[in-house]
Amino acid sequence: MNIAVLGSGGREHAICWALAKSPKTETLFAIPGNGGTAAVAENVASLDICDAEALVGFAQDRNIDLVVIGPEAPLVAGMADALRGAGIAVFGPDAQGAALEGSKTVAKEFMDANHIPTAAYGSFTSEVEAINYARQLGAPLVVKADGLAAGKGVIVAEELDTAEDAIRMCFEGEFGEAGNRVVVEECLTGPECSLLAFVTDGKAFCMATAQDHKRAYNGDMGPNTGGMGVYSPVPIVTEEEMATMVRVMEESAAATARAPFENDYRGVLYGGFMLTPEGPKVLEFNARFGDPETQVILPRLESDLVSIMYAVATGDTASIDLQWSPLWAVCVVLASEGYPGAYEKGKVILGVDEAEALENVVVFHAGTTLNADGELVTAGGRVLNVVAMGESFDEARERAYEACELINFEGKQYRTDIGAKAAAGRSSWE
Ligand code: AMP
Ligand code: GLY
Repeated sequence: MNIAVLGSGGREHAICWALAKSPKTETLFAIPGNGGTAAVAENVASLDICDAEALVGFAQDRNIDLVVIGPEAPLVAGMADALRGAGIAVFGPDAQGAALEGSKTVAKEFMDANHIPTAAYGSFTSEVEAINYARQLGAPLVVKADGLAAGKGVIVAEELDTAEDAIRMCFEGEFGEAGNRVVVEECLTGPECSLLAFVTDGKAFCMATAQDHKRAYNGDMGPNTGGMGVYSPVPIVTEEEMATMVRVMEESAAATARAPFENDYRGVLYGGFMLTPEGPKVLEFNARFGDPETQVILPRLESDLVSIMYAVATGDTASIDLQWSPLWAVCVVLASEGYPGAYEKGKVILGVDEAEALENVVVFHAGTTLNADGELVTAGGRVLNVVAMGESFDEARERAYEACELINFEGKQYRTDIGAKAAAGRSSWE
C-alpha cells in the first residue's frame, strides 16, 4: 500500500515508524515530515497540508491508497472531505467530525445532546453576557476560546478578576477568530487521563490510557507547553472509572454515526477526561491522535497499524483487532533551552543512536532537521521524544532517563519527574 502521512511532529514520526514496520507498506510519504520521519519515509516538504487541491493532486499522481492526517488544522479545514471526495481512503474525520475539536461549543452541545458527563458551561458571543455568567458561576472557573488556539486558548482562573480579564482578552482578539465565541465553565478537580479510540461506523475501539504533563517544569510548575512527557497505561485509574470512560467513548462514537453527522467519523476520537470525585468527566475531545500520547501508545500496539488505519478509513469494523503489549511506556520530551518561550535552533544533536541501542528504547523526533553538513540539529522547541518500555512503571521510567542522559545538545532541557506523581499513587492529587 502507498501511504501519505500529513504533519511534522513527534506524533507523525511515531505514526510513520509504526506504519513502516508493516509488511503492507510499499511507499511511505511524510508531508512535510521532519528529521526523524526522513529515516522511515520520504519527506515531501513542498506541499501545504491545508491545500486540498495540491493534496488530491499528489495522492492521485503517486497512487496513494491511504492518507493519514496527523494534526487538527487540516482536519478542521476539510482535507479529509476533499480527499474522500476524490475517492481516496482517509484516516481522519471530515470537517464536521473535526468540529468536535475545532469548536468547544460544538463539543459541549454534542456532550449535552448525548448525556456525556462534562463541566457545566455557557457559550457566548457577547462579552457582557460571558462576564455575567462568570459572576453567577463564581471562581474558580475556566475560560476557553471557542476555536483552535494551539493549546493556548484555555485559562483556568482561580479568581473572578482573572476570569473577567481572560474573557476580555478573548473578545479583544488575543486568540484571533478562535476567541470570537467564548465558553465559560465550571472548574473541575482531579487527575487527568486521556483515552483515545479508533472510531469508525459508529463504533469505538479504545486504545490504552495515557497521561500527559503540560507544564514546563518539575512539580507541574511553570508555563503550559505542548507536553513535556507522557506515560501509558495510567496506573491510578480504577476499574469503575475505566468502565465509565470506555462507555463515554462508545456512546460518543455511536453518536457520530447519527444526525447531524452526515458521514460517519473515521479516525481517532481523543477523550480528555478529568477523574473528578463524581466520576470521569470530559474536558475536551480532539479529533486526532494526541501529541505526545501517540509516542507511548503506538509502541505498545502489537497489531498491524496499516491494517487498522485502512479498516478505520473504509469502515471495515470486522477487521479491527487491537492487541496491546503488557509493557509500560514512558516518554520524556527533550526541549530547547527557553521553551516554551524563545529558543535557539540549529544545535547539533549527539547520542540518539546510543540511546536507541538500549533495549526497548525508541527516540521520536519532534523538532529536528538535517543541516547542510548532514548533521542532525535542533529545529523546534520540543526536540526529541525519548520513549522507553519496561516490565514495570519504575523500570520504564528509569530506562527513559538513562536514555535521556545519553543524548546531548546545547541547552537540552527536560523534566525529571515524568510519571513520578502517578507512581506515588492517587493520594498525590489530593
Ligand atoms: P482543554 O484544551 O479543554 O483540554 O483544556 C486544556 C487544559 O485545561 C486541560 O488539560 C485541563 O488541565 C484544563 N482544563 C480544561 N477544562 C477544565 C475544567 N473544566 N476544569 C479544570 N481544568 C480544566
Ligand atoms: N497532548 C494533548 C493533545 O495532543 O492535545
